Amino acid sequence: MVKRVFLIGYMGCGKSSLGRKLAKATGFRFVDMDGEIEQREGASVSDIFQYEGEEYFRRTERALIEELAQSKESLVVSTGGGVPTWGDNMERMNEVGQTIYLRRTAKQIASRLSPHGRQKRPKLRGLNDEKLVAFMTTNMAEREPFYAKARHIVDCAEMSDVELVELISKTIKENE
Ligand code: S3P
Repeated sequence: MVKRVFLIGYMGCGKSSLGRKLAKATGFRFVDMDGEIEQREGASVSDIFQYEGEEYFRRTERALIEELAQSKESLVVSTGGGVPTWGDNMERMNEVGQTIYLRRTAKQIASRLSPHGRQKRPKLRGLNDEKLVAFMTTNMAEREPFYAKARHIVDCAEMSDVELVELISKTIKENE
């Protein structure tokens, strides 16, 4: 049976690095949505936002979700932080796979984000420490109802990546 695991959550919560580790542990193919889109478009996410606009980026994400939904191989997908908030993406992911919300607070995420991590994300670029936490707190609250539609919610704060991979692998198995 084909399994599709979608990691969702706010920018910088660790979807990509955890996704890569989870893919190794499960043997599923790893897809990083931002990376896949950048490769296909031949442009960085920030250039796509700047030159094509956010709407174009969101439609590209939607098309990729549909493609992954029809995949014939098992996947671990690290979604972009905005994916769950757009159209019926959450419903579609829940229909074809298991969605896992990696929850962290704005403060935790801010302390994990490198200057490059801020710079490469068009929505966070140019914000100083104080503004970053304020923006993320408001934006996360707006997004929470979408993220909360996930099948499983994992509070990541006190957990190491090793523990998270173990917990999520177990959750995937239990919900086959
Ligand atoms: C976005 C999240 C980013 C990327 C783009 C927009 C968002 O992905 O898709 O910068 O709106 O939350 P990450 O969650 O991987 O940073």
